[in-house]
Amino acid sequence: MALSIVEAEAPFLAAAGGRASPVTPVWFMRQAGRYMPEYRAIRAHHSLLDICARPDLAAEVTLQPIRRLGVDAAILFADILLPLVPMGLELEFVSGEGPLIRNPIRRAEAVHALRAVDPATDLGPVLEAIRLVRRELGPATPLIGFAGAPFTVATYAIEGGPSRHLLESKRMMYEAPELWHRLLTVLTGVLGDFLAAQITAGAQAVQLFDSWVGQLSEADYRSYVLPHSRALFDRLTGLGVPRIHFGVGTDHLLETMAEAGGEVIGLDWRIPLDRGWERIGANRAVQGNLDPVALFAPLPELRRRVSDILQRAGGRPGHIFNLGHGILPGTPVDRVRAVVDMVHEYTTQGR
Ligand code: CP3
Repeated sequence: MALSIVEAEAPFLAAAGGRASPVTPVWFMRQAGRYMPEYRAIRAHHSLLDICARPDLAAEVTLQPIRRLGVDAAILFADILLPLVPMGLELEFVSGEGPLIRNPIRRAEAVHALRAVDPATDLGPVLEAIRLVRRELGPATPLIGFAGAPFTVATYAIEGGPSRHLLESKRMMYEAPELWHRLLTVLTGVLGDFLAAQITAGAQAVQLFDSWVGQLSEADYRSYVLPHSRALFDRLTGLGVPRIHFGVGTDHLLETMAEAGGEVIGLDWRIPLDRGWERIGANRAVQGNLDPVALFAPLPELRRRVSDILQRAGGRPGHIFNLGHGILPGTPVDRVRAVVDMVHEYTTQGR
């Protein structure tokens, strides 16, 4: 039999496209961050926003988990709130509290005052970081770009920071639906342009983080969110990269989120992977879904949970192993590495 030398497809891209791969790919949301000593060493001298504004630092932090963990994909180091800055919002990260926006959007005037964004100039450092990272990564490790979904970004823009009940956001939806839709339309345009620019710069997949959308009923998701998320996904159709659609607490929304778009749907840890996959449909890939807190469990318990997920995936093409949400600060790095090895060993032997 003649052997032709064809560069094998990266496991992450194969799985994202629902194609078989020699091993189940694994990466972690928030794989760069405070749990990692080499990240903390950089953070000791630079703020989060500084790192995002310096392509050399953002690229370095993106590459740290690739070297340390052996994961199958890199995710660009940035933050979902960055595009709000050129739109005119005053963003800072307060240590211990998270993001803070000094001039949150509460009134129609604030929506009308939002500035247009040109990603090439206004978010240039992020795009430059993508180009730098791509130069360093081999073909087996694709780079994932990302943005917040219009809903989740809007909640920060309106609340001004983390919020338990999303009171001001829901108030705007219910009291001033036209204003809400106008704001989401503006955000959808900015985020769509930004993701398209990330793809042009070299991102080989994109993930849309709709982290807080689980706060909505299915009916509210349909009325206030779905048209915008769908428009954003549509904007990215034909650009040649797989799109991952992720949310937390979305058991009641899975089918509806899949309707909005994404070749890959993210599952959190609350739903058994096989049941979630069945509901989304065999024509989509799934990403998930280990509980981030399982990384603090004793090794045998962690191993049991990892194999449970892999058994539920059953070796079917189209599973990307990940957590159900981001890695928590304080997570032991060796446990994260152990999960990568478990997934690779289990799925290599099993085939
Ligand atoms: O995943 C990665 O490794 C890439 C980097 C990344 C960051 N933020 C860096 C970051 C990504 C993908 C994000 C996305 C993000 N940012 C989301 C969606 C994902 C999710 O977790 O649901 C959200 C909601 C944000 C907004 C945000 N940024 C919050 C709420 C916080 C504070 C809470 C926290 O974890 O500290 C941030 C800060 C932030 N963004 C950190 C990192 C590494 C920690 C900051 C630090 O170093 O001080």
